[in-house]
Amino acid sequence: MKPIGIFYGSTTGKTEEIAKKIKNQFSDTQIDIYNVRFAIVNDLEKYDNIILGTSTWGKAELQEDFKKFLPILQKADLRGKKIAIFGVGDSAKYPVSFADSIGIIFDVLDGKGAIFVGEFSVKGYQFQSSLSIFGENFAGLPIDEDSECELNKERIAMWTDLLKQCLN
Ligand SMILES: Cc1cc2nc3c(=O)[nH]c(=O)nc-3n(C[C@H](O)[C@H](O)[C@H](O)COP(=O)(O)O)c2cc1C
Repeated sequence: MKPIGIFYGSTTGKTEEIAKKIKNQFSDTQIDIYNVRFAIVNDLEKYDNIILGTSTWGKAELQEDFKKFLPILQKADLRGKKIAIFGVGDSAKYPVSFADSIGIIFDVLDGKGAIFVGEFSVKGYQFQSSLSIFGENFAGLPIDEDSECELNKERIAMWTDLLKQCLN
């Protein structure tokens, strides 16, 4: 598999931890992790495989650093690149906007020629609504470190197994 760039935004460090756990699932592949606070367009364009991840901070609100990173994402030439998205949230405290970040990022990039991979089933998640559902699935992997952390090991393993089949 070609190298993967993981780009994350994180306020309290939870998304950063998940990014590292995702990286650890790919023992045979080069994976570089970037905090979006310091990432530039060239960093994104280096990779044919990109994983984007951040948390939700209020209904339809992205984590602060990732919000500032959106213009960089929009400027990058992402045509033909495979993109997978994960979102970190809290389904118990914020059930009406659970992991909205996945859907927000998806909407920003939709139509720019990237190929989205890593849809994930809603089965097993407890929430009322989310901007991240497209059709019957989440457009990426929702992770709940606050209320369902015991489920995350398995969810990350399932998602990364899926990515291994469809990344470049
Ligand atoms: C003020 C505030 C608002 C939040 N809003 C949401 C939300 O709308 N949806 C959600 O799923 N999680 C929400 N969360 C939970 C965070 O996304 C969650 O704690 C996440 O793990 C933080 O990740 P980070 O430390 O990597 O930024 C909110 C948390 C806080 C403190």
